[in-house]
Amino acid sequence: MAFLADSLKRIKPSATIAVTDKARALKLAGRDVIGLGAGEPDFDTPDNIKEAAIKAIQSGKAAKYTNVDGIIELKEAVVRKFKTENGLDYTTKQISIGTGGKQVLYNALVATLNPGDEVIIPAPYWVSYPEMVLLAGGEPIEVQTTMESGFKLAPDVLERAITPKTKWVLLNSPSNPTGAAYTKRQLKALTDVLVRHPHIHVLTDDMYEHLVYDDFEFFTPAQIEPRLYERTLTVNGVSKAYCMTGWRIGFAGGPEPLVKAMAMIQSQSTSNPTAVSQWASVEALNGPKDFIPKHNRIFKERRDLCVAMLNQANGIVCPKPEGAFYVFPSCAGTIGKTAPTGKKLATDEDFVTELLEAEGVAVVQGTPFGQGPAFRISYATATTALEEACARIQRFCGNLR
Ligand SMILES: Cc1ncc(COP(=O)(O)O)c(C=O)c1O
Repeated sequence: MAFLADSLKRIKPSATIAVTDKARALKLAGRDVIGLGAGEPDFDTPDNIKEAAIKAIQSGKAAKYTNVDGIIELKEAVVRKFKTENGLDYTTKQISIGTGGKQVLYNALVATLNPGDEVIIPAPYWVSYPEMVLLAGGEPIEVQTTMESGFKLAPDVLERAITPKTKWVLLNSPSNPTGAAYTKRQLKALTDVLVRHPHIHVLTDDMYEHLVYDDFEFFTPAQIEPRLYERTLTVNGVSKAYCMTGWRIGFAGGPEPLVKAMAMIQSQSTSNPTAVSQWASVEALNGPKDFIPKHNRIFKERRDLCVAMLNQANGIVCPKPEGAFYVFPSCAGTIGKTAPTGKKLATDEDFVTELLEAEGVAVVQGTPFGQGPAFRISYATATTALEEACARIQRFCGNLR
């Protein structure tokens, strides 16, 4: 349509939102559907956080515009978080608060990308990364990882992807969609490469920092390589670990000029993130965190359940990831087989469509995440539903001919 901007021709809608919508529509039509598409915890926001929000509303603190990129109390809480949890020293002037991690990442890209600037994105990646880069006028450069290497970017692959036009390398650990997280040694091997290329900046998306299992220890690039501190934007938020996806608060720490530029973009687009959510986030970061290990015990149980059951399904291979609440199994062994409807599975999109049709299980195909044939399961759902869903996947794969 001539009315719409040409820039829209470069991007595609989110596949994860599409599958969630499709599952919702089938449910509304009366089908028994188990949705494993949505990337958010099934737990409610903890009560102390809700109470802080109610107090902010009642005291009038939530009624007015705030500082464009966040109230000072939240910036101070973020400074403390980075210091105590990551050993990173930032001042409040180096902190940006936005409407979810998504806006913070988008602001950073809009603030820095000129036409032709390249952003290295290891695949599989969160579906929004390449599209955000394209919207901001840059060029996403996808580099592949393999299931055999635990979906970790190899240093020599990173090195080969670097050009004079590389502006950012975008790292995400633990990862959406694979759950893969870099050990200190693996991350150091990547930062060693980046230190040698002073024109490159590091955009690290640490959104799933707290969701790691089996005593895995989380590290972020600027923490293990101080020489990268000046050229790293460390992005994080309250959405996942604090069960606050709907509240829409994300944050970042990084170089002051970049943080200032991001604030300018925010000032001319959305202005401040919602005041009540900012006050709730102050409590999230400063308050008790005992619910996190409790949730993690449940997430770990569910991860182990998924991995065990999916590896028993014909044609499926499911690696065991370190964190987040996703598994990313390969369905290569089902391609070429025929579903109960008579449809021959040619792609992972066929696999997920036929699975939804035959068994009412909604998962997202791997291809939009940059690698297929595979699919992503979000196990942030009730354990009984998850067990039933995995049993249905086993039955579906067993019925393929
Ligand atoms: C890897 C990753 N980064 C960022 C985000 C965005 O988080 P928020 O909901 O805070 O915008 C998500 C959400 O799905 C994600 O998976």
